[in-house]
Amino acid sequence: MDRIEVIQALIDGRGYRRYLEIGCAGDECFSRVRAAYKVGVDPVVGGTLRMASDEYFAMAVETFDLVFIDGDHRHPQVFRDVCHALRHLSPDGTLVMHDCLPPDAVHESPSLCGTVWRVLAKIRERPDLEAVTADFDYGVGIVRKRPNTAPIRVGLSMDDLIYADLVANREAWMRPVTPARVLEIAEGAKGSGG
Ligand SMILES: C[S@@+](CC[C@H](N)C(=O)[O-])C[C@H]1O[C@@H](n2cnc3c(N)ncnc32)[C@H](O)[C@@H]1O
Repeated sequence: MDRIEVIQALIDGRGYRRYLEIGCAGDECFSRVRAAYKVGVDPVVGGTLRMASDEYFAMAVETFDLVFIDGDHRHPQVFRDVCHALRHLSPDGTLVMHDCLPPDAVHESPSLCGTVWRVLAKIRERPDLEAVTADFDYGVGIVRKRPNTAPIRVGLSMDDLIYADLVANREAWMRPVTPARVLEIAEGAKGSGG
C-alpha cells in the first residue's frame, strides 16, 4: 500500500467527493486519485492552480472532504498548511500528510521527508484531533476531527525537536499502523463514524 492507495481507500470508503492536494509535482498522485472534484495547488508544476499554498488559502472559500498535504516539507510551512487545511475540511473529512516517518536523520532534509513528523507530533497533543501514521511509503499521517483517544505531551516546541526524539517516541507519538488498520479506518466510517 502507498499514499495514493490510502487516499483512494478513504475517498471510496467514506464516500468523499471533494479532494485538495497541496504540492503536486509530476501529478503522480493527483492524476491517479479518483474523486468527483479535485483541486491541486503547486507553485511550480502539476495540479490545477499555479501558486503556493499560503496564496491559495488566503483566497480559498471551498470545503474539502480530503486534503493531502505534500508541499514544502519544512515544519513551519507544514504547520501553516495543516492549520489552514483544518479550516477548509468538512466535519467528517480527513487530512492526509505525506513523509511523517523519515527512516533516518538524513531524510529530514527538506528535499526528502523534511520535518513533517514534528507537526504530526504536535497534532497528537490536541484533544480534538485523532491521528495515526500509516507505517509505509515514508509515513502517511491520517488526521480526523475526532476526540483524541491517546493524547500525548511532547514537551518541546517543533523548533527544538530533534530526530532522536522521533526514534525514542516513535510508537507513542506517531502511532504507526498497518495497511489493514488503514482499511478499517477508511471503511469503518461507512456505518460507525469511527
Ligand atoms: C514531494 S512533491 C509532491 C508529490 C506529490 N504530492 C505526489 O504524491 O506524488 C512536493 C511539491 O510541493 C511543491 N511545493 C513546494 N512548496 C510549496 C508550497 N508552499 N505550496 C504548494 N506546493 C509547494 C513543489 O513544487 C513540489 O512539486
